[in-house]
Amino acid sequence: MSFTVAIDGPAAAGKGTISKGVATHFGFAHLDTGLLYRAVGRRVLEGQEAVATAQALTAEELGQGDLRTAEIAQAASKVAVIPGVRAALVDFQRAFARRAGGAVLDGRDIGTVICPRAEVKLFVTASAEVRAERRYLELSAKGADATREQVLADVRERDARDADRSTAPMKPAEDAVLLDTSDLSIEQALAQAIALIQTKLP
Ligand code: CDP
Repeated sequence: MSFTVAIDGPAAAGKGTISKGVATHFGFAHLDTGLLYRAVGRRVLEGQEAVATAQALTAEELGQGDLRTAEIAQAASKVAVIPGVRAALVDFQRAFARRAGGAVLDGRDIGTVICPRAEVKLFVTASAEVRAERRYLELSAKGADATREQVLADVRERDARDADRSTAPMKPAEDAVLLDTSDLSIEQALAQAIALIQTKLP
C-alpha cells in the first residue's frame, strides 16, 4: 500500500532534515527532489544541454559527488524554470511516491503538481534570515568560503526565481499544513511533522 508525504518549501527551510527524520521514524523511503534539479544543473555547468540531460538522468548520478554547493544550487534553480526539464522528471518522482511502504518527497511542487493527492502535505517555511544562517553554517562546516551576506542574497534570488516561474511555481498547496520553523529547533519541527503524519496514517 502506498502512502505519500509531500514536503515543500523555500531554500534551507529545514525540509531535508524533517524529511529524513520522518522517513526514519515511519520507515518510509525518502527522495530529495532538489537533487534531480541539482544533478541537471551540474551537467549544464559542464556544458551539456538541460532538457536532454534531464531525459537521460539516472538515479545513480544523484549519489555522485557533492551536489549541495552554492554554485550548483543556482544552476539548479535556473534549469528548474525550463518546462521540458520539469516534464522529464515527473514520472520518476511519481513512481517513487507510489512505492509500497510509504514515501516522503521534498521539493517545491510536490503537493501541487507531482503528488496532488498525497495523504499528507506540509509546507515548511522560515524567515529568509534564519534560512540563510542555517545554510551559511552548513556550507561553512564543509569548508566552503561563503559570507553570510552572499548566502542571504543567493537564497533570496533563488526563492524569487522559484516562486515567480510560470511552470510549477513554489507555493503551498491549498490543503497543505504550514510549518514555520523560524523559532523551532529541529527536534521541535520534526516532532510537529511526525504528530501530523500520525493523525493521517490508515
Ligand atoms: O536544499 P535547498 O532547499 O536549498 O534546495 P533544493 O531543494 O536542493 O533545490 C534546488 C533547486 O531545485 C531549487 O531552488 C528549485 O529551483 C529546484 N527544485 C524545483 O524546482 N522543484 C523541486 N521539486 C525541487 C527543487
